[in-house]
Amino acid sequence: MTNPYEIIEHEYDIVVVGAGGAGLRATFGMAEKGLKTACITKVFPTRSHTVAAQGGMSASLGNMGKDDWRWHMYDTVKGSDWLGDQDAIEYMCREAVPAVIELEHQGVPFSRTEEGKIYQRPFGGMTTNYGEGTAQRTCAAADRTGHAILHTLYQQSLKHEAEFYIEYFAFDLIMDEGVCRGVMAWDLATGKIHRFRAHEVVLATGGYGRSYFSATSAHTCTGDGNGMVLRAGLPLQDMEFIQFHPTGIYGSGCLITEGVRGEGGYLTNSEGERFMERYAPSAKDLASRDVVSRAMTMEIREGRGVGKDKDHIFLHLEHLGPEVINERLPGIAESAEIFAGVDVSKEPIPVIPTVHYNMGGIQTNYHGQVVTLKDGEPDTIVEGLMSIGEAACVSVHGANRLGSNSLLDLIVFGRAAANHCAEQIKPNTAHKAMENAGQESLDRLDKLRYNKGTIPTAAIRDKMQRTMQNDAAVFRTGESMQHGIDEMQKIWESFSDVNIEDKSMVWNTDLVEALELDNLLRCAIVSIKGANNREESRGGHAREDFPDRDDENWMKHTLAWFDDNGDVKFDYRPVHMYTLTDEVDVFPPKKRVY
Ligand code: FUM
Repeated sequence: MTNPYEIIEHEYDIVVVGAGGAGLRATFGMAEKGLKTACITKVFPTRSHTVAAQGGMSASLGNMGKDDWRWHMYDTVKGSDWLGDQDAIEYMCREAVPAVIELEHQGVPFSRTEEGKIYQRPFGGMTTNYGEGTAQRTCAAADRTGHAILHTLYQQSLKHEAEFYIEYFAFDLIMDEGVCRGVMAWDLATGKIHRFRAHEVVLATGGYGRSYFSATSAHTCTGDGNGMVLRAGLPLQDMEFIQFHPTGIYGSGCLITEGVRGEGGYLTNSEGERFMERYAPSAKDLASRDVVSRAMTMEIREGRGVGKDKDHIFLHLEHLGPEVINERLPGIAESAEIFAGVDVSKEPIPVIPTVHYNMGGIQTNYHGQVVTLKDGEPDTIVEGLMSIGEAACVSVHGANRLGSNSLLDLIVFGRAAANHCAEQIKPNTAHKAMENAGQESLDRLDKLRYNKGTIPTAAIRDKMQRTMQNDAAVFRTGESMQHGIDEMQKIWESFSDVNIEDKSMVWNTDLVEALELDNLLRCAIVSIKGANNREESRGGHAREDFPDRDDENWMKHTLAWFDDNGDVKFDYRPVHMYTLTDEVDVFPPKKRVY
């Protein structure tokens, strides 16, 4: 196939792909340090999915009671069900404090205490003194924290003269003998193809929540960076761990922040019972998300769901009163009104566990460098390639992420990536000459664009989403997952018969959606096969046929490679059971009790 594309060339020190919280924190940090930095994003930066983050960002500031980063570290290790890497978790929890203070200085309009300090609310799994009390650790800007952070970071990026390529779709990495040299991107407005060379490409492309039918994620969360990495022949890590947020609005999947329960909201079943008291006598409604989502699912299964079909649960905040609702939770009052027709001051919100977060992703170290298993060495650096945010798997969340550790992850590792590049890269150094860089990607683009298929992208996507929803759910069994795997294989094969009606290049959303679907399908297949492969229950991965955590055989990270036939190959790497400093000891595995 010939490629009649006029290619526009660019050279940068750093190219960041994605303009959510992680991408923008890295972008402005790199630009601030004098590196020539470009940020490529398929949506306008302040429309990135971080804008939807509600409840807040954890950091042990201790503004509302005693706190300590070591307690935060313990909670995160425990929340991860001991699959998190303890060196990276130490780094994140310690750096949380300066990172949030920097945000405050950069202009994030956090809510305030009476004394004018940053307001902090309790969130699930966040405790004081290694599990004894409840910590108020989540720094909030009402219930629009992501919105506040994203706008500030974009302003900082402009101030530091980072260059933006907005509404550009990055579709493949440029790889050269295992080294990443840049990225290929399509400018949707002009239809032109752009070749970006860079000393580091930083993938900050977010999660792949849209591989499921009901998700709190934006429709743009299509695992684009993960897809690029798989196509480059690199593995993804721990993709079987998918988080269900307990309180998505029944029907629409729209997020109702955990901050509601942090402010005193609670869940009830059809008998009006506050059932979390049975499942987690100490933490109750503020147990970690995997625990609450499973408890809700059990209540529904046992016939105690609410509504006509007894298939959801009620979340109450009527008792909180207008002052708390208007000051701390105005956004969710609006969402409940729009998406459930509920006045939260009078009625409960109908909620259901909804896909929210991908713990797995691109394997990195705590500097944001992509690493891989090579010649028996599990942390071999992939030169020229970094990843941060939900696209990455550092792994600080292990098998289950604690609420408000995501905004933290974005900011701490976006900042770490910028610091690392500033130390390692000399601005404006020459790029390696390469013949035909990105040719394979153009061939792939053309293959899809000119495909003479019969099935619309939307039909294939719908089948994938329903299969994942049904067969890789809160509770999984080998039988349901094998059914899902067989279905996904057929769906993958049907993608070769996809019909792209529009052959043009200017704002061809038909083609964009097909490229996104390619990424989603790869992520979905790796996830469901990984879930079937892991014969234990841990964190967000709850198998009814293997109900216990099995540290002897499964205290290890899964690495998964994908080939174009839809086959997945697995290998493993050890969990980092060591810390960076001697200021804290390793937390050895024990049973999780809430
Ligand atoms: O519930 C929430 O506000 C979500 C926060 C998070 O996922 O970290």
